[in-house]
Amino acid sequence: MTDLKKIDTYAKKWIKEASDRIKDSFSKELTIQTKSHANDLVTDIDQATERFFIEKINSVFPDHRILGEEGFGDDVQSLEGIVWIIDPIDGTMNFVHQQRNFAISIGIFEDGVGKIGLIYDVVHDELYHAISGEGAYLNDLKIPQMRKTKLAESILGLNATWVTENRRIDSSLLTPLVKKSRGTRSYGSAALEIVYVATGRIDAYLTLRLAPWDFAAGLIIIEELGGRATNLRGEKLNMLEGGSVFFANEELHDEIMKDYLHNGKW
Ligand code: IPD
Ligand code: CA
Ligand code: CA
Ligand code: CA
Repeated sequence: MTDLKKIDTYAKKWIKEASDRIKDSFSKELTIQTKSHANDLVTDIDQATERFFIEKINSVFPDHRILGEEGFGDDVQSLEGIVWIIDPIDGTMNFVHQQRNFAISIGIFEDGVGKIGLIYDVVHDELYHAISGEGAYLNDLKIPQMRKTKLAESILGLNATWVTENRRIDSSLLTPLVKKSRGTRSYGSAALEIVYVATGRIDAYLTLRLAPWDFAAGLIIIEELGGRATNLRGEKLNMLEGGSVFFANEELHDEIMKDYLHNGKW
């Protein structure tokens, strides 16, 4: 049987070690490069952090596989066995510009089933953490099951990109949804926005395009708390390819799906 507790103990230890290295970098000059476009940033610290996790995992769990954003892990084409899905720094733009509001995100899957979700807000020293079936915690405090909300009393996590002209959707499609909500927020780290949904700081998080490492850990935490995690068509999330995502408490998920998303071309 897989020893989840052992994996979890190591993962937490490595997250703390990695975060100390990230904080040390604040006093040094970053090497910043761009990836797919001018605003898609990556730093030497994103890369070093991913490498750090890969070395550690390989040394203790040589048969586990790793899917990491920066590409130093394995070429993962299936979720057989144990797969760690890692975003070494989620919110790189915040890391570069603000030195806060970013997180380390690790989701651990066994044969495609989410088992351990860890999201660490490095600067605020807040570890959001779930082992499937054993509850979710913020540091040592148990996070209560998600409460249900109506759209008219809900705050939505939504990036302004999607309600301005963009290449993925007709931006006016989301206007009625935004108007009916109590307000919108955008924090610049998908992992943190997902745990804000989990803890009720916001009520839903929607976006047109994320990669698996952006939401793998958040998915495990949300599901542990009775929330819903789907794409914008209401389908199961694709852990190998990513796509659109929609996280919310059950009632709000139903309301938004039925009244606002049912005939969108997402
Ligand atoms: C990004 C952040 C951001 C989201 C982007 C992601 P990164 O991740 O989560 O909030 O809007 O789509 O790519 O690149 O900072 O790890
Ligand atoms: Ca990135
Ligand atoms: Ca990310
Ligand atoms: Ca990243």
